[in-house]
Amino acid sequence: MSRGHDRLIAELREKLGATVVVTDPDLIAPWLTDWRGRWTGKAAAMLQPGTREEVSTILAAANEAGVPLVPQGGNSSMVGGATPDQSGDMVILSLRRMKEIRAIDPETRQCVVEAGMILATLQDELAEVGLRLPLDLGARGSATIGGLVSTNAGGTEVLRHGTMGEQVLGLEAVLADGSVIDTLSPLKKDNRGPRIDRMMIGGEGQFGVITAVRLQLTALPSDRATAWVGVASPQAALKLLRFCEQECDAVEGFELLPKDSLAAAEAVFDLRAPLDGDHDWQVLIEAKGESEAGTLNEKLGSILAGAIEQGLAQDAVLAQSEAQAEAFWSIRHHLSDAEKRHYGMANSHDISVPVDAMPAFLKEVRDRIEADYPGAWVSGYGHLGDGNIHLHVRPMDRASDDWRATEGAEIERKVHDMIVAHGGSISAEHGIGQMKRDEFARLGEPARLAMLRALKQALDPKRILNPGKLIP
Ligand code: MLT
Ligand code: ZN
Repeated sequence: MSRGHDRLIAELREKLGATVVVTDPDLIAPWLTDWRGRWTGKAAAMLQPGTREEVSTILAAANEAGVPLVPQGGNSSMVGGATPDQSGDMVILSLRRMKEIRAIDPETRQCVVEAGMILATLQDELAEVGLRLPLDLGARGSATIGGLVSTNAGGTEVLRHGTMGEQVLGLEAVLADGSVIDTLSPLKKDNRGPRIDRMMIGGEGQFGVITAVRLQLTALPSDRATAWVGVASPQAALKLLRFCEQECDAVEGFELLPKDSLAAAEAVFDLRAPLDGDHDWQVLIEAKGESEAGTLNEKLGSILAGAIEQGLAQDAVLAQSEAQAEAFWSIRHHLSDAEKRHYGMANSHDISVPVDAMPAFLKEVRDRIEADYPGAWVSGYGHLGDGNIHLHVRPMDRASDDWRATEGAEIERKVHDMIVAHGGSISAEHGIGQMKRDEFARLGEPARLAMLRALKQALDPKRILNPGKLIP
């Protein structure tokens, strides 16, 4: 640790106290490794501000001292976006103490909430007043609102409601020099130039630290239908999606689940898919609305009966209770963890192509990689409804770190090249972080990269905000 760090820590301890400035290695240790265990770093200290003013004081002082900060919420990044590097020069800036709901307005269905609020806790609070944030994902118990906004997280409801960024009406963020931008006011119109707050959404903490957001909410649904369906192929699943959407505007989740992912959930967590029979592909469908309870179940039931009749689906089962619906989703949300434990760490690609192009893309990438690399195994699951699949590549035997770094890395570049050739994205919902930074540099459009670099240089010339992530 350098003299700059010593001085900064002493200065902040004097100004903000020991609750904010943590140097005990045992308290810092749990926050040095990402939740999937892929990256581990070192940190000179961990700062835990409780107010926007404290964040401002910290950034101004760190900027002055040139000490880099790693903003962190629930540490549930999928791309190492919130993990410090190995140098020991970085300081973690935890937003977890900033977790107040500043306002909820049931009339306009809006709330203002601080960055460290955990998604599941917010949903519980909102449910008390008949509201919900239409965003859900497996990490809901740890992911924080600030992290979800700064990664523009996706999840399982994007098909109907869009990503996290689309729920954000305004925000408050502290810039590298400690100054604050605040667009939290409920103004519906404000055309004083471009929306400068938008660059914080998906900005991965590069341009400022989000401290609070105003969110657009929806009514807590009074009706819900959840179905598990067997289909012959991703192509059939896509046809089923379009058929469901034609018949019902309440479909908000449509998840594609291959047999091998489901086998992992059963083997590791004893979570058994609810359909009997051997279906290579299965689909989890969720519909939610404000109709009388039971209406959507009836509707989805008859849609699926029609789909089976037309040969779009092989078999289907509807959840008969809230508990059963949750049990269906629990299988889905355990897939990532189950696959890792059962098959070993894969090279995972969080990819998107236009929705209708996904089935053909999946087949093409699988055929090409499995032909070029005998023994490699390509599998994918996820959010078919919005064109985002988590594509995993591993050798038939358990994937080792060696394989991921050598042959796996070469395969990764091939997969990314194919995605770009299809007009897709190498990061659909997880962000770039440290995991995809070099590939983003290789494949990002030159103008996009140049603009990001210019913005970074203008707003954070000393590179104190989350260096080493996103921007090459
Ligand atoms: C999911 O959809 O399960 C998550 O985004 C995690 C993953 O990539 O597996
Ligand atoms: Zn996902």
